[in-house]
Amino acid sequence: MPGNTFGHTFRITTAGESHGRANIVIVDGCPPNLPLTEADLQPDLDRRRPGQSKITTQRNEPDTAQILSGTFEGRTTGTPIAILIPNADARSADYSQIKDKYRPGHADYTFDAKFGFRDYRGGGRSSARETTARVAAGAIAKKILATKGIRITAYVKQIGHLIADIPDPTAVTLEQVESNIVRCPDQQLVQQMIELIEQLRRDGDSIGGAAEIVATNTPPGLGEPVFDKLKADLAKALFSLPAVMAVEYGAGFAVATTKGSDNNDLFTTQYEKIVTKTNNHGGMLGGISSGMPIILRAAVKPTSSLPREQPTVTTQGQPTTISTKGRHDPCLLPRFIPMAEAMTALTLTDHLLRHQAQNPSP
Ligand SMILES: Cc1cc2nc3c(=O)[nH]c(=O)nc-3n(C[C@H](O)[C@H](O)[C@H](O)COP(=O)(O)O)c2cc1C
Repeated sequence: MPGNTFGHTFRITTAGESHGRANIVIVDGCPPNLPLTEADLQPDLDRRRPGQSKITTQRNEPDTAQILSGTFEGRTTGTPIAILIPNADARSADYSQIKDKYRPGHADYTFDAKFGFRDYRGGGRSSARETTARVAAGAIAKKILATKGIRITAYVKQIGHLIADIPDPTAVTLEQVESNIVRCPDQQLVQQMIELIEQLRRDGDSIGGAAEIVATNTPPGLGEPVFDKLKADLAKALFSLPAVMAVEYGAGFAVATTKGSDNNDLFTTQYEKIVTKTNNHGGMLGGISSGMPIILRAAVKPTSSLPREQPTVTTQGQPTTISTKGRHDPCLLPRFIPMAEAMTALTLTDHLLRHQAQNPSP
């Protein structure tokens, strides 16, 4: 199974399954001398962790990271950093009744069609549990970006029909995002969002939504002009997360109905720097960062594993019904937020280090 590595100069490789012994990441290319201990990884792992609130899955994983290599006396050495996150609360028996059935909307059928087998216990490698490894690596990437003043914040923009009003995405703080269990900075909507999620859980159903991700203080010049455009790599980063169905940046799909004269972001200068008056381009032009805030959105589908009964087929193609007894999030968005931040941080760090390697002076 190839395809477990992401990035070029700053590169991660992950291994592990939902109901295996652990998830693992090897981070290659981290600069030496960065202060780093497990305490730096834990806050984002805690934000990703299952069982964190009444609106997430009740699987209860401590997700305690262990750094096995690549640091000495609390600093990175420049050698590969291996991180281990053990699985503690897998209940594989919950999945035995779906062993011979395909869950609609999940990776069961395609995994089987490709490999001729599937780990039915929690989805194996297609489970979002794999993202523990990415979130741990993303915490390192965020620390590297912070040395340049670059900050990444993601939050819930939409749950079902409820759309948050965020007048200035660049002003949203981590404290605002973490002030409620949905991770939505629009306090007016939080209670309605929680009630909607709880209602769908009671109905044996689930609900989709969208996240917005903002990177501020990104210097101009990150990204390569052709295949490795920053917008392409960020899209790949977000699409590589489970359940992501659409990614847009800046004005996004709205450009389809916009005139050029309205869409163009006009250049001006501010404190002797070239900036644009508006940010329809979402901080990237020609696949290269412009220095304006990078603004992305990802639409995340409703959880496919449902306690309510749905028609499906057996692995032999016979009609049957399925209801999933395992523990699942009724809405993926609250726990998706740290994952989206991690993938954005990994991509920006990779491009930052690539840019520095090619252009050491700027
Ligand atoms: C935070 C998060 C948690 C998830 N938890 C579940 C879950 O408990 N049950 C489930 O069926 N899918 C869950 N998923 C989604 C599946 O992993 C995903 O839908 C599946 O692998 C199929 O991939 P695709 O939706 O990208 O096609 C989760 C996704 C995210 C982002």
